[in-house]
Amino acid sequence: MSAPAAFPRSVPTLPGAPLLGNAQEVSRDVLAAFSRAFAEHGDLVRLKIGTGTLYLASHPDLAQQVLVEGGATFLKMEQAGRPSQGLGLLGGMGLLTNPDFKHWRSQRRMMQPMFHRARLAAMGDQMTQAAAQMIRRWETLETVDIDAEMLHVTMDIICRTMFSTDISGDAGRAAQASEVALQFLTRLIFSAVKLPVTWPLPGNRRFARAVATIDEIIYGLIDARAGHVGQFGDLLDMLLEARDADTGEPMSRQQVRDEVVTVFSAGHETTAHSLAWTWYLLAQHPEILATVQAELDTVLAGRPPTTADLNLLPYTTQTFQEAMRLYPAAPVIPRRIEGQAELGGYALQGPARVITSVYNIHRHPDFWPDPLHFDPLRFSPENSVGRHRLAYMPFGAGSRMCIGNHLAMMEGVLLLATVGQKYSLELLGSAPVIPKIAITLQPVGGIPMRLVARS
Ligand code: HEM
Repeated sequence: MSAPAAFPRSVPTLPGAPLLGNAQEVSRDVLAAFSRAFAEHGDLVRLKIGTGTLYLASHPDLAQQVLVEGGATFLKMEQAGRPSQGLGLLGGMGLLTNPDFKHWRSQRRMMQPMFHRARLAAMGDQMTQAAAQMIRRWETLETVDIDAEMLHVTMDIICRTMFSTDISGDAGRAAQASEVALQFLTRLIFSAVKLPVTWPLPGNRRFARAVATIDEIIYGLIDARAGHVGQFGDLLDMLLEARDADTGEPMSRQQVRDEVVTVFSAGHETTAHSLAWTWYLLAQHPEILATVQAELDTVLAGRPPTTADLNLLPYTTQTFQEAMRLYPAAPVIPRRIEGQAELGGYALQGPARVITSVYNIHRHPDFWPDPLHFDPLRFSPENSVGRHRLAYMPFGAGSRMCIGNHLAMMEGVLLLATVGQKYSLELLGSAPVIPKIAITLQPVGGIPMRLVARS
């Protein structure tokens, strides 16, 4: 990026239709539209979505300005003080969508200890147990949709580690409902015409039913804790035991619900899709799979992995990191500006959305030579020296960075190790799997794979 100009330039614009602008192209395929905008117009591009403006930022310096330094200008969508039209409709005042800075900060401080490394180490066993249970189920199967399998096992892990419950009953229903809700919200976020969610339209009704299901299950979980709070040492205990420093009051039921929904939805799909994309890439690169498996065989010699093994599995870790470079589960990070703003020497005019494209940054040729090539060794310590700090940012950046990043890394490597020891996964069919943005980066139609047991 060049230095900010004295008279900021206007932002290059993606040509579009007279009234709708780029709305049709974006609503057809957000990822393709954003990739084209970056490839044809560069690091900062202006798009029109109906009457709304969207700025697409695809450079680490811009990410630094928006996400790390821009807190007062580049607001979380919900902070902009508008009726929520995004994830806030599901997560309410939970960490991810909390619009009130002071309140968010005290909630974040309170929840942070749950995600410290020492605490996470104790969760490793629960992760490998969930993975072992999945592998037992696979014994009678020849093929699986690896995306669906990863969604199931990561949901199981969130239920066990955060809420000390089991996926078999209600959590499965909650997972389905959260899928319906997230799909609805993606359509809403990227559509040109936003009709109020309170109108009795079929999509709105489906969303309301999904939220009602999620609420019923989560309030059930909270109520079932009555009389046992403090006995589990999990996130739910932490939320229910917390007391306000000034008033000594416990958290409201609604607030507990919002935090649980947030961790529930933010904490499993992202990790699941990241793993599914890793298996997809490994199936296309048998030589890399063989190197991962050689490392697993040497370090583990057939026993289940533990958190103590994580430092001994650098190549497996780098493989997961490289898969998240090519297919970042959170491909775009949205913010909002209300008035004028300056970004990378350009003048932005609000109200507008400013979207940091993690996907484009991770494929930026200035930072990643031969960007489409899958090569885990990009993440070896020697090859990482001197790289821009935000050229790789799957977990975001700045104060709102992912609280679950260490948990996700640990879970990713433990699951890769548990499965990779026992199976080589092969793609069924030769058609490429298409990624789409549905808040997270999902494989369209799942990823059907053949299970080949290792002898
Ligand atoms: C590969 C897995 C994951 C990816 C790629 C991911 C990505 C992200 C990103 C990019 C953000 C920042 C959003 C923003 O700035 O607006 C975020 C926030 C968040 N993530 Fe994750 N995440 C992952 C796993 C998890 C897990 C396992 C949990 C919890 C168990 C979690 C919980 C959260 C929460 C609560 C926030 C909001 C933080 C705040 O605003 O204080 N995530 N995540």
